[in-house]
Amino acid sequence: MLVLGIESTCDETACAVVKEGKEILSNVISSQIDIHKEYGGVVPELACRRHVDLIIPVLKQALEDAQVTLEEIDLIAVAHGPGLIGALLIGLNTAKALALANQKPLIGINHIEAHLYAALMSATAPVVFPCLGVLLSGGHTALVLIKEIGHYELIGQTIDDAIGEAFDKVARMLDLPYPGGPQIEKLAKEGNSQKYLFKPGTVKGQPYNFSFSGLKTAILYRLRDIKEAGEMNEQVKKDCAASFQSTAFNDIIKKTLLAVEKYQIQTILFGGGVTNSQTLRQMFQEKVPHINCIWPSVGLSLDNAAMIAGLGYHRYLKHGADSLDLEPLIRIPFNSLEKP
Ligand code: KG4
Ligand code: ZN
Repeated sequence: MLVLGIESTCDETACAVVKEGKEILSNVISSQIDIHKEYGGVVPELACRRHVDLIIPVLKQALEDAQVTLEEIDLIAVAHGPGLIGALLIGLNTAKALALANQKPLIGINHIEAHLYAALMSATAPVVFPCLGVLLSGGHTALVLIKEIGHYELIGQTIDDAIGEAFDKVARMLDLPYPGGPQIEKLAKEGNSQKYLFKPGTVKGQPYNFSFSGLKTAILYRLRDIKEAGEMNEQVKKDCAASFQSTAFNDIIKKTLLAVEKYQIQTILFGGGVTNSQTLRQMFQEKVPHINCIWPSVGLSLDNAAMIAGLGYHRYLKHGADSLDLEPLIRIPFNSLEKP
């Protein structure tokens, strides 16, 4: 079964062709970072205009790379949320038009669930369920018990900023361009992570929940004090980046381990843009060598359409197609993921 995936939830326009939910025949991603960089974050209006320009060329490229025609596609899977409304509409309407014109079934996919599926696509050996999903993206931070594909239980999540959002905001404070994660990781390599002792956010009585807003504010105030004292320099920025990254990642590792113990987990599936961080991967490797950690492979950690097509295959086999009335959803409550 050949599935065409379409992704346009935020600032990546992507199309992919995936066979039987796992074999990636093409995975084309056109990033818009260049246009959003100067504003320090994604500008929704600019994002949707760029999606309009890019969606057809990206689609053609994905079909060409996979060496298939639209007629040969069996299913069209599209990320219909969560995301920016204007951006979602471009991908969704393209998918609907393609489905209608070519008489193909259409299926709507939850972008967040697809991030978790991306690690499964990357697994080299069969994965035994239940496992723990650790979702670390620009919009979400969550620990999820994955009972099987399509059956989840939310264990914990952020009560304020998402981890990627915190990286992007701290990067701005350090005058680094968007997206901030990779920039902070690079800068932190030359910094001392013990120089500033920031406290990770805890949520009273909720050991699996995250809070990054206090950490972000602590860094803002510390940088302000350093600037006022006339002590700002490149090394300060490097030390700050390293201290922030280490505090945030250690917090994630600690809470993940708590969940691993409570639910007796053998395998962790990682998903979302922040899992691109080699530093995070090394830290997990050092701290939990006994757990099978499955990371999304290159091209599957940041936003992409291969994960949408891959998950689309499974969802379609289980639930059948969606109707052409499928709505874009800015938010999708996590409990809608919990249903078997
Ligand atoms: O999953 P994603 O592509 O988009 C969302 O669905 O949100 O994640 C993007 C986020 C951005 O906040 C970016 O700064 C972060 O992933 N990111 C990183 C790294 N690479 C990307 N954060 C930390 N370290 C990285 N190396
Ligand atoms: Zn994403």
